[in-house]
Amino acid sequence: MAVQLSEAAQARIEQLIERYPTPRAVMLPALHLATQEFPYLDDEVCQAVADLLQVPMVDVKGVATFYTMFPTEPQGTCEVHICFNLSCSLQGARRLLRRAERQLGIEVGQTTPDGRFTLRGVECMAACDRAPMMYLNDELYGNVTEEKLDELLHQKSSGE
Ligand code: FES
Repeated sequence: MAVQLSEAAQARIEQLIERYPTPRAVMLPALHLATQEFPYLDDEVCQAVADLLQVPMVDVKGVATFYTMFPTEPQGTCEVHICFNLSCSLQGARRLLRRAERQLGIEVGQTTPDGRFTLRGVECMAACDRAPMMYLNDELYGNVTEEKLDELLHQKSSGE
C-alpha cells in the first residue's frame, strides 16, 4: 500500500493550496509536514507529497534533496550539523568538521554504525555573527570551539 500523509496533514496541505498561487508553491510547507510524520523523505514519501500537489515526483525529490533540513535517508538519533559557509569557515568550521569526523569515526554525510550520530556539513544557518555555528538536533550553538564540540558530542553520546 502506498505511503500517505495523515488526514490532518492532507487537510492542511489542501488549505495551503487554496492560499498559495499554485500547488507547487506549497512544496516547502508540505515537505515540512511530511518530515513531522516520517523519519526521512524517501521516494514513497516524496510520491505521496507529489500526489497531493499534483506535480511530478522528481520535482518534489529535487526540492527535498536540495535543502539540508529535509532528510532523504535514515538519520542518526543525533544530527550534528556544522556550517561551513564563508563566515563559519573563516572562524574554523572546517577544523570542527574534521575533528567531528575523527571523534565520531565517520565522514561528513555518514551515520555511525550504531545509528546514533549523523554528521553533515551545511550552508549558512543565518547566524553568521556567532560563527562558527553548529546544530545538534533542535538546538543551535554559536562560537563553537573544538573544546565545546568535544563537550557537546560527549554529552550526546552519554545521553546527557
Ligand atoms: S556562514 Fe555559518 S551561519 Fe552563516
